[in-house]
Amino acid sequence: MRHDITLKVNGEVWPLDVEPTDVLLEVLRTRVGVTSPKPGCERGDCGSCTVLLDGRTVRSCLVLAVEVDGHEVVTVEGLSLDGLTALQEWLVERSAFQCGYCAPGVILSAAELLADTPHPSRHDVQEAIAGNLCRCTGYVPIIDAVLAAVQASADPIAREG
Ligand code: FES
Ligand code: FES
Repeated sequence: MRHDITLKVNGEVWPLDVEPTDVLLEVLRTRVGVTSPKPGCERGDCGSCTVLLDGRTVRSCLVLAVEVDGHEVVTVEGLSLDGLTALQEWLVERSAFQCGYCAPGVILSAAELLADTPHPSRHDVQEAIAGNLCRCTGYVPIIDAVLAAVQASADPIAREG
């Protein structure tokens, strides 16, 4: 039996009907058209499907859409609705990613950290993105870029406009 739910995604309200087994990752990608959360392991290990749910990172491959009825999801698309944040600018500036598959999840994990801890240590950044598997970079350029953004901007996750 299908269920009617309402999701707020990147500021927009989406009334949706979903099966009880529909996973948030697929609903976002195929029904809402938000494709930055990526399918990877689809069992909670890689972090490529990371989204912010009510401001906290979750692995959207492990969340049922019916569980998040009435809640708010933010993806990288929503983080940069009015222009890239300084965090994103610095990741680009430093060429922090290679293939970029991990990038949306890494950016959201870093954004969650910076919302809680505006002046993180290198270790804090390392810990925050540890759940996002990056096969390409060895993490050093990503961590350097996050720290550069923190140093250069008073609020690296504010929208630049
Ligand atoms: S696809 Fe969700 S954690 Fe890997
Ligand atoms: S840049 Fe390729 S997986 Fe991270």
